[in-house]
This record gives sequence, structure tokens and C-alpha cells, in this order.
Amino acid sequence: MNKQEIEANKAEFISLLKSTGREGIDDLVDMLDDGKMRFFTAPASVNHHLNSDGGLLQHSLNTCKAGLKLREMVIAMNPDLESRLSRESVIVATLLHDICKADIYVPTLKKRKGDDGLWREVESYDIDYRNFPMGHGEKSAMLALMSGMEIYDDELLAIRWHMAAWDLPMQSYELNRCINTARDEHPLCSLVNLADGIAANLLEWGNE
Ligand SMILES: [Fe+2]
Ligand SMILES: [Fe+2]
Repeated sequence: MNKQEIEANKAEFISLLKSTGREGIDDLVDMLDDGKMRFFTAPASVNHHLNSDGGLLQHSLNTCKAGLKLREMVIAMNPDLESRLSRESVIVATLLHDICKADIYVPTLKKRKGDDGLWREVESYDIDYRNFPMGHGEKSAMLALMSGMEIYDDELLAIRWHMAAWDLPMQSYELNRCINTARDEHPLCSLVNLADGIAANLLEWGNE
């Protein structure tokens, strides 16, 4: 992704967040933009979906767009859920679900063998968890809180549990109860999990 595309995506990310009218968005953006976090230029992964500069930002926008479409579809089919799935909550939870990844990718050079059999140095990333080894969804939720922005319980839970059972230590009875309770009580949890899957597995299909 080139610099102009990343800048355009960054502007869209900020404008979507500001459209929620929440307090503290500027502080959140400052936190994401600082030298350690690098959210706006980080990749979404090292070897899988959107593994290039700006990939994490693109994935966050894809998840948000999938989440907003899913919201419309779900409300059309089950109008009782309209008050439980506000547009603002979908935007906040989807855009912030993976901010935990921003500080773990460190640019590096790796040797790769070309089709001609010659080894060359190519730009890539290493993964380093030392900045804040807090986990995945729980780290994203905590970073959002630490920024001081206005955010609500169901949004924090949807961010915390966006991986559903993929990120669950199965031996923990208490965490099993927590994820099931969060999903039962807050439909936003299931919506964000589904939107993340649609983005990573379908919208970004073949994008490796
Ligand atoms: Fe994630
Ligand atoms: Fe994700």
C-alpha cells in the first residue's frame, strides 16, 4: 500500500470515529500514531492477510464496513436488535478491535529465494511483544480505555472477545463462562466477531 492510500485510509478511519461524536478521539488517535504504536502503517500480519505497510489499518476499515453492512442486515431481519446494535458502537468496536497489534511488528530485512534461484534481501517484519504483552482482545480493550476516550461496556466486551473461542484457554472454566455470558448479554460481541471473519477471510481473500 502506498503513502497516499495509507493517508486516505487514515483520514477515513478518523472521520468514522469522529462521526460517533465520542469524546477523546483525538487522544486515541495521538496514542495510535506515536512512534511506538505505529498503528497507521503497521501490517495486519507477517505471513497472512494484508502483510504490508498499512495492512492493519485496511483490515480495521474492512471490519468496520463489514460490521455496518451486517448491522443493517441483522436489524432488517430482527428489528428487536436495533437498540442493542448502535451504529456508533459498531464503528468503535470494529475499528479498535485489533489495535493490540500496532506495536508488535518491527520492520526488518529477510533473505528470500527468488524464482531465479538467487537469494535477495526483502523488507519484512519481525514480531516483538515486549512493549505491552497483555494478550490480544484484552490488550485492544485496555489500550482503548487507557487512551481516555468515551467507550462503553458492550464495546469493550466485543473488542475483548472478538476472536470468540479461537483465543480461549479451554481449561479455564471462568473464561468459558465469561465469553458465553458476554455473547448472550451483548449481541455486539457476535457481530464484531463475524465482521472480523468476513474481513479477514473473504474481503481480504487472496491478499497475502
Ligand atoms: Fe484480532
Ligand atoms: Fe481482526
